[in-house]
Amino acid sequence: VLIVQISDLHVNTVDGVVRRFVNANETLAEAVTAINAMTARPDVVLATGDLTDHGTADEYALLAEILSALDVPIFLLPGNHDDVATLTASLGAAHRYLPETGPLSYVLEDHPVRIVALDTTDPAKHSGVFPADREAWLEATLSASDRPTLLAMHHPPFDSGIWWMDAITIEERDRLEAVIRRHPQVRQVISGHVHRATYSAFGETLVSICPSTAHQTWVDLDDQSHPLMTTEPPALQLHAWTGSRFVSNTRPLTLTGATFDLVSAMSNWDRAQEVIRRGPPFPKGGVFG
Ligand SMILES: [Fe+2]
Repeated sequence: VLIVQISDLHVNTVDGVVRRFVNANETLAEAVTAINAMTARPDVVLATGDLTDHGTADEYALLAEILSALDVPIFLLPGNHDDVATLTASLGAAHRYLPETGPLSYVLEDHPVRIVALDTTDPAKHSGVFPADREAWLEATLSASDRPTLLAMHHPPFDSGIWWMDAITIEERDRLEAVIRRHPQVRQVISGHVHRATYSAFGETLVSICPSTAHQTWVDLDDQSHPLMTTEPPALQLHAWTGSRFVSNTRPLTLTGATFDLVSAMSNWDRAQEVIRRGPPFPKGGVFG
């Protein structure tokens, strides 16, 4: 199963910090085009929060309009810039899994990997939360099946090293980590929020952060650094389940920089392909010199 993760879309209809230097609506449309064009077909798209910049009904209407061009099923999670009540009222009916009220947590059972989506937002906070009722929900949900599981959320449960971002990650991360440890079928935890590809260990598994489809956070591990956003290439992540593990790739929405097709440097691509596809051993002095 191939899962595409997009995050921190920040769709907006009014002026704000984001709009001053990036067109997030346009970059989301580029993400939709990129996903639709993938010949290795994704099975599902997960959008891990900050779907809109201000959480208004107008912004969710625009989000729905842009996403309507997507030809792969998509499931949504809220972020700190979203408004769960408005999101659910605007879009909830479109997806049978989404609860109509309360936290927007749910389970997708349709794939070889179980996908558990956990709402980590609190309407009053930019930081993430994992209160007792969501802990009980996650514990019960993970206890219900030993199938390999991917856990998706907006806030990462670890410090990225970017000090001003780390002020707004999940408060009760130790309790979340204890739940994950009790359920080793959770094979990867995916998140967003930081606007940069970052990884860490979590329980017995891996936790990853997806870049934004719009603007990125500059990585500066100095705790006196300025909060700096960049327009380095927007990207998505591909999480491929091989049957025993996830393999995750970060991919800019479009090809960037110079490209060089190695086939143009080969005299016999048919022969070279045969050698490459046969697999190791792969002697030096052969098709790649
Ligand atoms: Fe964001």
